[in-house]
Amino acid sequence: MSLNVDLLRNSFTLLQAEKHEFSALFYRTLFSDYPQVQPLFAHTDMAEQPKKLFASLVLVVDNLAKADILTNALHGLGTRHIKYGVLPIHYPMVGGTLLKAMAATLKDDWTPEVADAWTTAYSAIAEIMLAGCDYPAETLDPESADPG
Ligand code: HEM
Repeated sequence: MSLNVDLLRNSFTLLQAEKHEFSALFYRTLFSDYPQVQPLFAHTDMAEQPKKLFASLVLVVDNLAKADILTNALHGLGTRHIKYGVLPIHYPMVGGTLLKAMAATLKDDWTPEVADAWTTAYSAIAEIMLAGCDYPAETLDPESADPG
């Protein structure tokens, strides 16, 4: 994985200072842009979930230089997401929303280089999470994934 670790770490430090606003904005945007994923969170403690999301981002940023720890943790995380009803088609929705919420939070600090670094990082994370999963072939087809 070739990631711009310094840029990711620096921008993450800035996000950490605004983590409550950032997490709230992320879920608000996700559910308004993609209402179809809201039922997946029907039984979720929404006071805790943003903390878990942020903690997993911390894990990724902390372990950027340690590929094997990261890979194991992300395989496990991807496998647990199957049980949450998450499909591969949902990953770009969450990724797009994450970048949008980061951009809105970081404002002028969201430079094209920072945007590139996070776009690459999210794709790599999602790819590793999905590589640890054994989704049935039909769920990989976007046409069949979203009932509405
Ligand atoms: C880079 C991608 C993602 C990361 C880092 C991430 C992170 C997490 C973490 C840390 C948890 C807490 C539970 C656990 O550790 O197993 C979680 C739960 C969950 N995530 Fe994700 N997630 C990602 C992608 C997605 C996607 C694409 C969806 C689909 C909308 C999703 C929906 C959920 C749901 C429904 C739960 C369960 C909440 C509950 O406890 O009820 N996640 N996620």
